[in-house]
Amino acid sequence: MRTPLIAGNWKMNGSHALVDAFGRAFADTALPDSLDVIVLPPFPYLDAARRALADVSVQLGAQTLNPSHAGAHTGEVSGRMLQEFGVEHVLVGHSERRALYRETDDDVYDRLLAALSVGIQPILCVGETLEERDAGHTFDVVLRQVGHALAPLEPEQRARVTIAYEPVWAIGTGRTATPEQAQDVMAAIREYQSGFDPDLAQAMRLLYGGSMSAANAAELLAQPDIDGGLVGGASLKVDDFLAICHSAR
Ligand code: G3P
Repeated sequence: MRTPLIAGNWKMNGSHALVDAFGRAFADTALPDSLDVIVLPPFPYLDAARRALADVSVQLGAQTLNPSHAGAHTGEVSGRMLQEFGVEHVLVGHSERRALYRETDDDVYDRLLAALSVGIQPILCVGETLEERDAGHTFDVVLRQVGHALAPLEPEQRARVTIAYEPVWAIGTGRTATPEQAQDVMAAIREYQSGFDPDLAQAMRLLYGGSMSAANAAELLAQPDIDGGLVGGASLKVDDFLAICHSAR
């Protein structure tokens, strides 16, 4: 049985006030026992978030990292620095990083290795564009992204990766994939993983992301291969995010 996981990707949003509001809300809420929750604020709020969430069972995540441990990378943040802030998870390959900052499959792989090298659990983001879906290439694109990142890894490395399927056309659009569409792709990802190790495939957590909301979370999370959600917009509204967490039983 895989423990459900709900992660809130704040993207380039948030404030100290929002961090404090989350700290108070989680302190006053009894989350389901078998649930992992991660909050991924922008870098400047990591320390405040670590302090605000110190006494509640919410883990801290970051939205990206530089593949290098240190050096002449102006404006960048390394995995070692994230570790010092208590970060336990990091996104790699988010579609916005791929589209806006031209991160290639190789760049994603380098970041995934950097996270593993400092003991931070990577959340590998994959997903197709609307054009790719309409052309019938969804499974090719998604499995290419998964394979490029995971095929070269050692089994014990692969076991530490979580995958988030985020159809690009559903991100920030309010147009959510149907539970069946999401389930089909995530079952294919799990089947692909079984080619490496059937036990790993069953243990790996697969998250759905793309306009997940308090209204649709329960139906999505009821799907057999959807183990949780990577939530964007709804993660900035405390009540909505908590409602999604409570949907993940
Ligand atoms: O990383 C999660 C994000 O891409 C989904 O965004 O606003 O569609 O929930 P949103």
